[in-house]
Amino acid sequence: MIVRLSDGRELPIEMYKVRIVQKTTLPPTAQRLAAIEEAGYNTFMLWTKDIFIDMLTDSGTNAMSDNQLAAMMVSDDAYAGGESYRKLGSAVKDVLGFDYYVPAHQGRAAEHLLAKIFCRPGTVVPMNYHFTTTKAHFEMGGARVLEIYHDDAMETASDNPFKGNIDLAKFQQVIDKYGAENIPFVRMEATTNLIGGQPFSMANLRGVRELAAAHKIPVILDCSLISENAYFIKRREDGYQDATIEDIVKEMMSLTDLVYLSGRKSTCVRGGLLATNNPEYFNQLKAWLPVYEGFITYGGMSSKEIEAMAVGLREMTDLDVASSSADLIKDFVEKMVARGLPAVTPPGGLAGHVDAMKFLPHVPQSQYPAGALAAALYLVSGVRSMERGTISMDRDEHGRDVLSDLELCRMAVPRRVYTMSHIDYVVDRLAWLHAHRELVGGLEFYEEPPVLRFFTGKLHALDNWGAKLAAAFRDEFGDCV
Ligand code: F0G
Repeated sequence: MIVRLSDGRELPIEMYKVRIVQKTTLPPTAQRLAAIEEAGYNTFMLWTKDIFIDMLTDSGTNAMSDNQLAAMMVSDDAYAGGESYRKLGSAVKDVLGFDYYVPAHQGRAAEHLLAKIFCRPGTVVPMNYHFTTTKAHFEMGGARVLEIYHDDAMETASDNPFKGNIDLAKFQQVIDKYGAENIPFVRMEATTNLIGGQPFSMANLRGVRELAAAHKIPVILDCSLISENAYFIKRREDGYQDATIEDIVKEMMSLTDLVYLSGRKSTCVRGGLLATNNPEYFNQLKAWLPVYEGFITYGGMSSKEIEAMAVGLREMTDLDVASSSADLIKDFVEKMVARGLPAVTPPGGLAGHVDAMKFLPHVPQSQYPAGALAAALYLVSGVRSMERGTISMDRDEHGRDVLSDLELCRMAVPRRVYTMSHIDYVVDRLAWLHAHRELVGGLEFYEEPPVLRFFTGKLHALDNWGAKLAAAFRDEFGDCV
């Protein structure tokens, strides 16, 4: 929640008490240099012992509530017919309004099932923007992913409140060009991850729905970050200021044919879910579930997490929960902008983002500026962020790099985990890095997996810039911070 202070400032205040904590340490610069060298300048390859503030992701890293933890204690571990599945069902019905649902072990497992059912060679799947695992699964299913965002969605410094909108004129062109029969579904992603956690508006979703329905194209919504998108609609869209998050979520659901989610984000657990009111889709999902996930009543999730998801689904519609990271991210982004850093604006959900091409204009895209920036930030702060740029794209069929539309360094803000002093520290170290940006160079792969290479690939710092940057930092701050 944001409270207004007596001097007029807005304060993102925590609407929870911290009742259990985990110790962190700030490793010295020499340790950080050794760790990032060992990790191949890939922040995914760092170990927790070498990390101070972990902003790699908000996926599965959120603080769970007391009620979620309590629910885990009363789970039913039955292989088939578990009561925990029925509790999840009642939350799905109450919060999302769907009769049919299947758990899956996480979001990408849901994407895999969708690819199995809907994607064929020759089909195209239009969407506001892809997520890495989404694209990998749909393409492995034979479909082509088409991104039909508005042109200005790629402007990182912007005041467009809904950069996650689909351009309806482009959607119409896709239908005209490929034919509705070759479009198994249109996909919307809530709080669109790879463009900086940017939401779509209700009006846009309704427009997509109307156009899709006119051509009998199903609408599938990625709900991983649904409560944040609902919160942005409440804050930014005319007519929704007085609506509850619950009502906004329900209205979004009524405009879709099927939804899926990674439960690791808005619902603060580890698992996945697909839900629909269409019995045919449900039967198709049910057929594949035991092959890839598990029996229908657990779908690859532990029954404890199913219980916690049932609670998390209900809790995410609480305004204080839906706003918990978005308000801190707003503060984070405003502080970055105030220090002259090229942050992605307007503030989104899930993370604060920096435009690495603006931050490191001397590093060409072929040398992965976002990956270099993530590694450099770790070196000068112990903060682990994530590359979301060309490293996160796989090579084309000719072995050439596919340059990403954006080169973002993403500093995720897991829900209810970090505080404002953590944010202030990150902004300060980013500002120091910006002032010394000429010390940061490019990266080059020396170990490169063929699919989703960003997870485990390893790279060299060209001209050994890591050691030079660490030395400059140590000169100013000593070795202990
Ligand atoms: N869809 C969206 C929008 C996501 O952000 C993610 C995961 C997935 C699907 C896949 O779900 O991880 O449960 O298999 N995003 C994580 C991230 C990995 O760090 O942003 P998953």
